[in-house]
Amino acid sequence: MKTLIRNADVVLPSEIVRTSVLIDGAIIADIDPAATVAADEMVDAEGYVLFPGVVDDQVHFREPGLTHKEDLAHATRACAKGGVTTFLEMPNTRPATTTRERLLEKLELARRHSRVNYGFYIGATVDNLEELVRAERTCGIKIFIGSSTGDLLVDDQEALERIFAETRLPIAAHCEDEATIRANREKLGEIRDVSDHSRIRDHAAAVIATRRAIDLAQRHHHRFHVLHVSTAEETELLRDHRRLITAEACPHHLLFHVGDYERLGTLVQMNPSLKTAADNEALWQALVDRRIQAIATDHAPHTLEEKRRPYPESPSGLPAVENLLPLMLNQVHAGRCSLLDLAEWLADAPARIWDMVNKGRIAVGYDADLVLIDMNKEATVRNEEQLTKCGWSPWHGEVLRGWPVRTWVRGETVYVDGRVVDTVRGSEVIYDHARGGYWATRDESPIK
Ligand code: DOR
Repeated sequence: MKTLIRNADVVLPSEIVRTSVLIDGAIIADIDPAATVAADEMVDAEGYVLFPGVVDDQVHFREPGLTHKEDLAHATRACAKGGVTTFLEMPNTRPATTTRERLLEKLELARRHSRVNYGFYIGATVDNLEELVRAERTCGIKIFIGSSTGDLLVDDQEALERIFAETRLPIAAHCEDEATIRANREKLGEIRDVSDHSRIRDHAAAVIATRRAIDLAQRHHHRFHVLHVSTAEETELLRDHRRLITAEACPHHLLFHVGDYERLGTLVQMNPSLKTAADNEALWQALVDRRIQAIATDHAPHTLEEKRRPYPESPSGLPAVENLLPLMLNQVHAGRCSLLDLAEWLADAPARIWDMVNKGRIAVGYDADLVLIDMNKEATVRNEEQLTKCGWSPWHGEVLRGWPVRTWVRGETVYVDGRVVDTVRGSEVIYDHARGGYWATRDESPIK
C-alpha cells in the first residue's frame, strides 16, 4: 500500500519544507517525489504540519499487575491520539520486569495489545546482575537510585558499582537520594499538606543522586541517561559530560511548579517533586542549549480515587502521553521553542539515545511513524475525553493550540477523524546498541 501525503509543511531534521512524502508499506519511500508518482491513497495535507512520530522514552503503562490504573490497550490508544508512535516502558509493574523471562512476557503482551511501537527497560535489583548482563531485546537498564512507585531500589554503593562495571547496556536512572529524603522527612515533623512533598524530596535529594550517578558513569565509562531532571543545579552538572551522558525533562517539570499545589493538590504530586518557577526556566534553558537533549512524559497514571487520598497516602505520578504534543505545540505558539526544536527533543534525540533503528525522523528509509498536525486547532483538555484508563489529566480545563489530527504507525493510520483505529498494532523497537547512542550519532545525516 502506497500513501502520498501531499503539500504538508514537513519537519525534516534540519529544516521545514513544503513538500510531499510517499509512504510505501511501513517505510518512508520518498520525500518530494515526482509529481506523477502513483499511490493508493492521497492525503491532501496543505496547511498542515507533518511531524515525526513522538518517541516517549519514559512511560509507566502498569501491565501486568496494576491494570486498574492503566493497561497497554488504553495507554496506547492515548498514544495514538497524542501522536506518540513509540514508547519505552518502565519496569515497575507487578511483577517487576527484572528478568529476561518477564521482559519476554511484556513484549508478548505488547505484541497483542499495543497500538503503537513498543520497547521495555529491564529493571535493576541488588541481585539480578546476571539477568542485566544477558538481557536482549531491551533499550537498556533502569535503576531506581531513589525509591518511587513500587519496590525497585538500588541504593547500595557496591551494587551500583557492579552494575555500572559489569553490564553493557545503556543505563537510565531515577535520581533522588534516599538518605536525604529520609532526613528531610524526619526534620519536617508533622506533615501539613502535599506541598511538603517538595520539602521532603527537595533540590538536594535530586542533585546528590544525579551527581552520584554521573560519577559512577564517568568512572566506569558507561553510557548513562538522567531521567526527569527537575532542578537548575542538575542542569549545571550536565554541562561537561558530552559523549557519555544524556538527560531528559518532563512536561510537568517544565510547566508546573510548587505554586501549583494550591490549585491542583495531590494531582501534581510526582517523583521527582515539583520545584520552583526558576527551575522551570533553567530546564527550558538547558533544553535550548542541549545540556538536556530529550523530553519524555513519565506517564504515571493512578486513579482519581487514589490521587485524592490525603497526602502522603496519595501516590506520586500523573498521566501525560495524550497531551504531551499539544502541550509542547502550544509552547511553540508561546514563542518558547520552534517546531524543529520539538522534533529533535520529542523524536530524534530519544531515538538516538536508545540506538533505535530507523526511528525518530522524517527521512527516506526510516519507519513511516508520522503525525499530521493542525497548528491552528484550539481545544480544551477535558477529563471526560481522556483515553488513558485513569480518565483524568492535570491539564483539565486548559485551552491548547496545535493538535494532532492523524497518526501513522509504520505506514498504517492508527488515529484519524478523532478516532483510534483499533485494528492497528505497533512493532517491537529494534536497537543497535553498537552505534553508541546520542553523541556517537551526532553528525549522522540520513536525509536524502
Ligand atoms: O511520580 C512518579 N510516579 N515517579 C516515578 O518515578 C514513578 C511513577 C509511577 O510509577 O507511579
